Amino acid sequence: MTERHPPRSAAHELERYDGLFASRTRVMRSSAMRDLMAVTVRPEVISLAGGLPDTSTFPPALFTRLLGQVPVAQALQYGPSEGLPGVREAITRVMAAEHMAVDPDEVIVTTGGQQAIDLVTKALIDPGDIVIAEAPTYPGAVPTFCAYEAEVIQIEMDGDGMSLDALEETLARLDREHRRPKFIYTIPTFQNPAGVTMSLARRRRLVNLARERELIVLEDNPYGLLRYEGDSLPTLRSLEVPAGSTDDNDFVIYAGTMSKILSPGVRVGWLVAPRPLLAKLILGKQSSDLCSSTLTQHFVAAYFATADWHGYIDELRGLYHRRRDVILDALAEHLPAAATWTHPEGGLFIWVTLPDFIHTTDLLARALAENVAFVPGEAAFADGRGQHSMRLNFSSEADDDIREGVRRIGKIVAEQVGLHDKLTGRRSGVAGSPAEQAAPPESAAAPDNVLALPRRGSTEGRRSRKA
Ligand SMILES: Cc1ncc(COP(=O)(O)O)c(C=O)c1O
Repeated sequence: MTERHPPRSAAHELERYDGLFASRTRVMRSSAMRDLMAVTVRPEVISLAGGLPDTSTFPPALFTRLLGQVPVAQALQYGPSEGLPGVREAITRVMAAEHMAVDPDEVIVTTGGQQAIDLVTKALIDPGDIVIAEAPTYPGAVPTFCAYEAEVIQIEMDGDGMSLDALEETLARLDREHRRPKFIYTIPTFQNPAGVTMSLARRRRLVNLARERELIVLEDNPYGLLRYEGDSLPTLRSLEVPAGSTDDNDFVIYAGTMSKILSPGVRVGWLVAPRPLLAKLILGKQSSDLCSSTLTQHFVAAYFATADWHGYIDELRGLYHRRRDVILDALAEHLPAAATWTHPEGGLFIWVTLPDFIHTTDLLARALAENVAFVPGEAAFADGRGQHSMRLNFSSEADDDIREGVRRIGKIVAEQVGLHDKLTGRRSGVAGSPAEQAAPPESAAAPDNVLALPRRGSTEGRRSRKA
């Protein structure tokens, strides 16, 4: 007869495992977007949370044809850690579309752009090392930096991207402390989550600074080809190594992804790095996953070899441009005058800042009860800032759902504003009729600790700021 053990208490179980966990697990953070995904997959939820492209636009007949072209035995086999030659070659063509000249052998295929960030952090960061990032930064990068126990220093931004003055001040302070950042992480174009783009003057200044100080810059560029208005700007990588130049790329690591221009489901991203770093990054990849999916890499190779990929990106651009305009109009209609938001020229996100008595993590609970989701601003900071801001996505929901989602958010914000005004006897802005409200002065736009950007739908002020 088998002996029955009495059930162990949950507290006892936790205690037993507590002693087993590596110390890094104490600083690990969950990804707000990943947590929210469990809720936002419910069909009744309007999600303005994820960074999801609209994959329903991909032609099913093309999908079937491409799968039919995939060589079965090779697609079901392991592949090289650095990626299949056809995919590395396709990546060089995608980068050429943004005026970057790279050799296929400088490219490492990664399991999404997320793994690109992970591999760079794994290769460069020891516990306590410094990573510099923008404030706010990509919410998916924060858990990665935390998992490797980096100290993350976030540099303020305005409508022209990261403040280079603030960056230089931080570097000078670190010099005085005899410390040096291991790398600077930036998303210069259509930044996630802020939706802003670094000006040309700042790009030049950042590349020069990296050269002078011999600092590594990780340029993460998932959205560069998704521009809806304005002129394109050179990537940091192309400023570091102009096309046709024989210079070595010493300081810019470039990360890209197929997720926003083809599909996140294929999980194909990439890294292009200075040659001395490549070998270490590949070692890191080998220990992570041996290789990225050969099945989806063959699909990607067939797509770029035979399909009109430029045409598909044009189609996405048209669709997202329209949805961006829909969300901007809806925000102007439904948010109170005291709210501010960015006006992205491309990409998938808008950063909204609410009056400082509204805590967006609390607001999310109310929003989920109304079946609408967004990413609370705190997810974009390593240190708890961003509490009054939120990230909104406009690529994945239909026009009417975007309008309805923003209307619901506007309604709960108005309730909070009304409650606050009642309690304090002040009048801070009424949702639903912003035109009747006088906008507060620019200086009152947002608390010091979060990105303060041009007021509602206006691009004024973006060009006037110092580079
Ligand atoms: C700035 C940035 N980097 C990296 C990623 C990761 O994307 P993926 O792993 O799907 O390529 C994202 C996704 O939204 C992103 O916005």
